[in-house]
Amino acid sequence: MTENDRLMELAEEARKNAYVPYSDFRVGAALLAADGTIYTGCNIENAAYSPGNCAERTAIFKAVSEGQRDFVKIAVVGGKSGETADFTAPCGMCRQVIAEFCGPDFIFLLGKPGEYREYRFSEILPYAFTPKNLGK
Ligand code: THU
Repeated sequence: MTENDRLMELAEEARKNAYVPYSDFRVGAALLAADGTIYTGCNIENAAYSPGNCAERTAIFKAVSEGQRDFVKIAVVGGKSGETADFTAPCGMCRQVIAEFCGPDFIFLLGKPGEYREYRFSEILPYAFTPKNLGK
C-alpha cells in the first residue's frame, strides 16, 4: 500500500470517532510529520457551536502538543454519516492554522480512499498570511 493510500485509510478510520450531533458531517484527518509519525484527528462539535473543532486542527494540535512542527502532508476524508463525500475542502480556519506550520509544498490529499487528488498548500491557500509577515 502506498503512503498516500495509508493516510487516506487512517483518515477514514479517524472519521469513526467524529463527535457530530449537530451537523452529522463526519470528518477524519491523518497528518504525516517529517519524522514519519502520523497523527489522526476528527471533528468534535459542541452544544455552544463555536467551540467545535475540525478534524484537521485536531490532528495539527495533537501533533504540535507532542513537539512536532515539521509536516509533510495531510489526508482529509469527510461526509454525512453513512456516506463519504467525493471531496471535503478544508475550512478557512484550518487553512490558516496549517499556514502557521506548513510551507507552500505541504500536500493535501482530498477525496476518499481509492479516489483522491493531491493539492499543494500554495493552491489551497494562496497569498497566505504567515509568521514571515510578522518577521518570524
Ligand atoms: N469540518 C471539518 O472537520 N473539516 C473540514 O475540512 C470541513 C468541516 C467539520 C466542522 C463541522 O463539525 C462539520 O464538519 C460541518 O461543518
